[in-house]
Amino acid sequence: MCGIIGYTGYSEARGILLKGLKTLEYRGYDSAGISVYHPDFRECLTTKCKGRVEDLERKTSDIKGNTGIGHTRWATHGEVSDANSHPHKFGNVTVVHNGIIENYETIKNTLDVADKLKSETDSEVVAALIDRCFTGDPQQAIVDAVKKLSGTYALAVMFDSIADTIFAVRNVSPIVCCKNDDGAYLASDVVAIGGYSEDYFVLPEFSVAKITKDGFEISNFKGEPIEVEMLKLDWDISNSGKCGYPFYMEKEIMEQPRVIEKTVMSRIKSGLPDFSCDKVDDEIFKKCSAISVVACGTAMHAGLIGKHLIESVCSVPVSVHMASEFMYSNPIVTDDTLVICVSQSGETIDTLEALKYAKRHGADTLSIVNVRGSSIARESDNVIYTDAGPEIAVASTKAYTTQVAVFYLITAKIAYLKGKLNYEGVTRFISELQRIPEAVQSVLDRRSDIHHLSNSLLTAEHAFMIGRGLDYPALMEASLKLKEISYIHSEAFASGELKHGTIALITSGTPVIALVTQQYLFSKQMSNVREVQSRGAQVITFVRRSLKSDELKNCFELPEMEDEFMLIPAVVSLQLLAYYVASDKGLDVDKPRNLAKVVTVE
Ligand code: M6R
Repeated sequence: MCGIIGYTGYSEARGILLKGLKTLEYRGYDSAGISVYHPDFRECLTTKCKGRVEDLERKTSDIKGNTGIGHTRWATHGEVSDANSHPHKFGNVTVVHNGIIENYETIKNTLDVADKLKSETDSEVVAALIDRCFTGDPQQAIVDAVKKLSGTYALAVMFDSIADTIFAVRNVSPIVCCKNDDGAYLASDVVAIGGYSEDYFVLPEFSVAKITKDGFEISNFKGEPIEVEMLKLDWDISNSGKCGYPFYMEKEIMEQPRVIEKTVMSRIKSGLPDFSCDKVDDEIFKKCSAISVVACGTAMHAGLIGKHLIESVCSVPVSVHMASEFMYSNPIVTDDTLVICVSQSGETIDTLEALKYAKRHGADTLSIVNVRGSSIARESDNVIYTDAGPEIAVASTKAYTTQVAVFYLITAKIAYLKGKLNYEGVTRFISELQRIPEAVQSVLDRRSDIHHLSNSLLTAEHAFMIGRGLDYPALMEASLKLKEISYIHSEAFASGELKHGTIALITSGTPVIALVTQQYLFSKQMSNVREVQSRGAQVITFVRRSLKSDELKNCFELPEMEDEFMLIPAVVSLQLLAYYVASDKGLDVDKPRNLAKVVTVE
């Protein structure tokens, strides 16, 4: 969703702002703009437009100045238009804003500025409010203004009357900052500034940053200086381009053997799972009598796998909740409940709000997060970071497989601590987990076979995916992938459920993708495959090597693993299927329509 970048220093700001906005493009946006402080005119000059950052680049070729702020907008209040794009200026004040101001109509009426506003946005009202609060002290004006806001915000603010200085403040929506010899930088996302320094900090909520080329002054709302915690970026930003792949999604799919291995290997000691590098105490696992997993989209699908694993291996009940529904569904949360939040970005607002709810109700909390220092990571009592590295494509791939890898480790840990598996049992489980990277690599090495199979889906409008046991939640993820990037309507079904309604939709030529990996369910799954075949369905099968039979046509063979571990190579092969369909249809695989990478609105 929206992205913020800011720079003040010794170089021309325009190039740095545009580069930052391009890095933020992956979040999803519909318009972009920059404001740069012009030293001769002594004011912030703004250029903004709907469309791509390249359009903005063409319109700003003559912009000069060493301090500026920029924004990519994903429309929430008001249509996609030049006027509604950020930055917004009111009087002395220019702002860019991420988040949603819920009481902006009230503020607009109280300030009586409706006839002076140029846009329909909540953000321009914030600029007006700060301008009205300003009596000479910028930090005080910002504090007085944001105290009147309800909602979420990350704001970067410039004043015409204060040269070469940016101010920032936030509630929920993130702002990260860093500095090098050339100046100081801020952004909504560490990916945008990671190339300038590996040392950065997350601006604490309800504090104001004054940013000049010499660095940062951070104060709380009482005006007292506060210290910030410096973090180290351990992502290789130099590896963050497409590295020769046409799309980030393909690159990220191909990275999976390495990032799964990285996530797993640092958490195994003497053959046992070990979370000491995450400082996660065994006590939270020993103590819990129930687990609730809370997440959205792909992260929630990883949670469904976690449920299956933990319940079957550890006999601990696990409920999985869509984060957006969690607090409205009267969830049973006690101090024996461990709430596990899963999020790639660590910024998904629904997951963050669910986490806060769980804490208010006394649960222990643990988050599985990819982005270090993100809001969910900071709010959570315990964090296990996936080592997926930056995930840029909107469609999540390596984040999912590393989240599932963490669920295997958690399963082994709980099983050992609760005596459900002895030392031998756990080490056997962990050795099978360590085989996953090699199994995934064998799928990737044969990706041209999947590409070939994908051709039959190119003209499909609908597709069905069927599987049993763990294959069913794996297909829910595969189905989401196909939907979000290829725009083919796809649904995953537990195969046994088909004849309770859905089989009515199967007619001659209907594409059905069958997943056949679970040994103990093989004969039942085969009966269900026959049911759709006999109604004319065009079946593509992803089948475990040892279960392949002549009866199955259009097959992709999956490498052999224990039942519980088959799903990762299976999902990777189905990620590739979705990818090839979307890219062969000529679609913008990395930026599917209407979607944003980071979902910061409810
Ligand atoms: O950053 P998060 O993991 O919290 O994001 C959750 C979902 O928005 C995300 O997984 C989404 O479903 C992906 N586009 C799926 O590919």
